[in-house]
Formats: sequence, structure tokens, C-alpha cells
Amino acid sequence: MALRWGIVSAGLIAHDFTTMLCSLPPSEHQVVAVAARDLNRAKEFAKKHNIPKAYGSYKELAKDPDVEISYIATQHPQHKSAVLLCLAAGKAVLCEKPMGVNAAEVREMVAEARSRGVFLMEGIWSRFFPAMEALREVLAQGTIGDVQVARAEMGMNITILPRATDWRQAGGCLLDLGIYCIQFLSMVFGALKPEKISAMGNIHETGVDSTVSVLLQYPGGLHGSFTCSITSNIPNTAYVTGTKGMAQIHKTWCPMELVVNDEHKEFPSPVLGKGYNFMNGSCLSYEANHVRECLLKGLKESPVVPLAESELMAEILEEARKAIGVTFPQDKC
Ligand SMILES: *[C@@H]1O[C@H](CO)[C@@H](O)[C@H](O)[C@H]1NC(C)=O
Ligand SMILES: *[C@@H]1O[C@H](CO)[C@@H](O)[C@H](O)[C@H]1NC(C)=O
Repeated sequence: MALRWGIVSAGLIAHDFTTMLCSLPPSEHQVVAVAARDLNRAKEFAKKHNIPKAYGSYKELAKDPDVEISYIATQHPQHKSAVLLCLAAGKAVLCEKPMGVNAAEVREMVAEARSRGVFLMEGIWSRFFPAMEALREVLAQGTIGDVQVARAEMGMNITILPRATDWRQAGGCLLDLGIYCIQFLSMVFGALKPEKISAMGNIHETGVDSTVSVLLQYPGGLHGSFTCSITSNIPNTAYVTGTKGMAQIHKTWCPMELVVNDEHKEFPSPVLGKGYNFMNGSCLSYEANHVRECLLKGLKESPVVPLAESELMAEILEEARKAIGVTFPQDKC
């Protein structure tokens, strides 16, 4: 049975996600509607992707009985209102990462999904790559022994992108790129809550965090750290060390290769669709297929990206951000 998607926003990632969905079997995924705040943009998007319905407001899409699940692809400061609108209308929701600007926003969305008994997941696409699944298997089998230390990094000079440096839009490295790092640490440490977090960082001229390093002490002496940056190109690798060895991935956000104790394994990405705005857009299909499986099973949240973990990751990013002195308009309370 096809899962019927409604796309909320007509931005770059919405295009990529739709391009990917439209190249999957129509018996499994269909895009039935798109909404943008500007009806003309929605119509243009619908025409490009051959989508039957276009709306000039998110509310109309939320009310459309054909839509089973909404994909929220707005900028993150607009996530909360769109997510709440769709959940209130009883739609399942896949929300792009980071789910919210701060932990309070994420908690509010999670509480709404739980109280309504509706599916919600943060779109941490990295978790669904076969290389990342293979890493979870390596950890579960004890191939590298007991996990002790993990480190992740992600940094690229993206100051040219307005979203990265815009303080009003809650830009900065932690929310834009740090989410990929913390999701890696959280995954390898089994969503443990850190006992202690310390962070140091630089602040960009626009007021957002530009390069940040975070140290995390977990129960049992487990040690994590990450560095993220919107101004510096750093190697974008992540590793986890255990009592019997080490596992490493390259391209923290979209890993295609896993190295376990010097043994390399490559994971080819699917060939699906053309004309993506972002690198390896076809790999969004891993996440889309996972969401479909969750809904077929009647789940209210994903076992791979559970809601409690989305809350925890938002708490850690917020604590690190505040430690270096960056607050956003959304942090008001
Ligand atoms: C980052 O890129 C911008 C333009 O894309 C450039 O002006 C700036 O010097 C670069 N910053 C660094 C730290 O390399
Ligand atoms: C991912 O994208 C990069 C850059 O466009 C490309 O060189 C690479 O072949 C892609 N990887 C796979 C496995 O498709």
C-alpha cells in the first residue's frame, strides 16, 4: 500500500526529498500535495514534480484527507508551528532535523504527538544509511569490545549560505551541523544521558556560533567529544573506540564507508532520480522507507530515532550553545 505524503515547504531539501520519493515505486510512496506560504511557489513545485495538489498554506495541507504523513522541510525555526498543526490534524509527521531550535520546542512537539497518539520522527537521515546500520551491528556484536570513547566532527565553510549565519533563523554550527555529530555519539552510546557537558566556541559576527567543540562525560566513564564548524573545512570523520578496536566512518552526515579495525567496507548508494540540490540526495530513500515500515507496523515513533532521544539531543545542543553564550529569539523563556 502506498504511503501518501504531503510536503510542507517548497525549499531546496523539499525538492530533494520529493525527487527521491517520486523515483521510488508508486505502489510504496506517493506525493499527493505540497504546501508553501506562497501559493505560486507551491504550484510551481507541484508542476515540476507532477503533484496533484498545491496549497498556499500549511493548514490546508494538514486538513487534506488524502495526506497520511507530512514531511516538514521548512527552516528549523518554523518546524514547531508546522509540526503542531499537522499533528493536531492527526497526520503522521517526519520533521527535518534539527527538530526544534531548543529543547522546550522539541518537548512540546513530542508531548503533542504522544497525547494524540500520532507518529512523529526527527529526520536524522544519517542513521538509516547501510554503513550506519552496519556500525550498529558491529557494536551490538561486540566486534570492537566495550565502547569507551567516541568522537565526531563536521565542519565546512558554509558562511555563504544565509541560513548558516542568520541569527534570527537560529543559524550556527551546533544546530546546522552539530546535530549530525551528537546523533553519532548518542547512537554509539545507546542514547545515554551525559553526566557532564562542557563547550567552547567562537561566535560569528552575526551572533551565531561558528566553531564549537564539546566534551561529554557519560556514566561509566564513557567519553565523547565533537567539533562542528560553519567556517572551517574539517575532515568530517567520526569514530568509536572500544576495548577490542575501533570503528570509523567518513562523511559523518552521509557515510558510505565503514572501517572496522582497518578493514574497509563500502556501501553504494541507490541510483534514484536526478538533479538533487544536496549531495547524495537519493540516500534520503533509506529514511523514507523506514518511515513507511514504521507506519505499516502502526508504530507511533521510530525505534531508530526515538522521541526521547530527539529531546535529549536538543538538550545537549542547547546546553552547549548556552555555554558559549549564544541565545536565540526562540529561547525567550
Ligand atoms: C568562507 O567562504 C567565504 C566565501 O564563500 C570566504 O569569504 C571566507 O573567507 C571563507 N572563510 C574561511 C575561514 O575560509
Ligand atoms: C555521493 O555524492 C558524491 C558527490 O556528488 C559523489 O561523488 C558520490 O559518488 C556519491 N556517492 C555515492 C555512493 O553515490
